[in-house]
Amino acid sequence: TTPLIIDTDPGVDDAFALALAAASPEVDLIGVTTVFGNVSPELTTRNALRVLALLGREDVPVAAGAARPLVHPQPHVSLAHGPDGLSGFADTLPEPTRGPDARDAVTLLKDLLEAAERPVTIAPIGPLTNIALLLAAHPGLRNRIERLVVMGGGVRGGNITAAAEFNLWSDPEAARRVLVAAEVPVTLVPLDLTRRCAVSTAWLAELAGSSAVGAKLVGLTPDYLAAYRKSLGWDGMALHDAVAVAEAIRPGVLQVRRHPVEVECSFGPGRGGLLVDERLRSADAGGIDIAVDTDVDGLRGFVLDRLRALGAG
Ligand code: BDR
Ligand code: CA
Repeated sequence: TTPLIIDTDPGVDDAFALALAAASPEVDLIGVTTVFGNVSPELTTRNALRVLALLGREDVPVAAGAARPLVHPQPHVSLAHGPDGLSGFADTLPEPTRGPDARDAVTLLKDLLEAAERPVTIAPIGPLTNIALLLAAHPGLRNRIERLVVMGGGVRGGNITAAAEFNLWSDPEAARRVLVAAEVPVTLVPLDLTRRCAVSTAWLAELAGSSAVGAKLVGLTPDYLAAYRKSLGWDGMALHDAVAVAEAIRPGVLQVRRHPVEVECSFGPGRGGLLVDERLRSADAGGIDIAVDTDVDGLRGFVLDRLRALGAG
């Protein structure tokens, strides 16, 4: 099994991503670190603890990380995840029987990387602040990281601004540090692909009918669904972060193309945008792997099968 750490800001789709990891025998979820993002850092940490309590995985340490971006303050934002980050339904999850780890996120990441028997896959599915801090503070641990599977960026436009996807926009300087310096292997799973893998309300109804855990997960989605209906006219929602975690679980399930990238860090209208340099295709041009395609129905089925098995045993 591959050791996996999820760096997250739950978040409705983050909750689905945590559940997918917990339901998958290919990976050993050895830690969860939290970051500001969809809601305040206090709430993302509390939500991570509650989701793991729902999943019966209170053995997984949760460490709180960055409360703000590296350099500039984050403009106030309330996206699509409701007042508490889980559509107002965080209270329906079990009360955790423990608090966060005494260590901060970077220290937990360091300790887990040092202790793991083999290089660790990290799935950052929120702003990239913790990962930038880790790489800056402990550059020697790079070779303990098998790969970063990052949910972020939009190749053809964003979701929080015309140019920028939410995770990159939330801390562009951190994203630049992680994606452009590319000191470790990176697979970037952008908005373009995660939107194509969106699931319908019928898919959610199947999950809700499968088990008490499935029903609780689907119970977290009303505000998030409402936001997709309002902004895009969808009868469904994107599972962004769960698509990245699916790739961490099953390397190669997403097809990739390697390109150098840039992250726009100026204060113009493009701030937080991802620039993919498609001019350079030779193997030695460097860059990161960008997920461009997958068997969309197969992926939806895979995630549904895994989540339906939760709590069934
Ligand atoms: C990303 O932003 C967040 O709202 C989601 O959890 C996901 O990580 C999508 O742009
Ligand atoms: Ca997220």
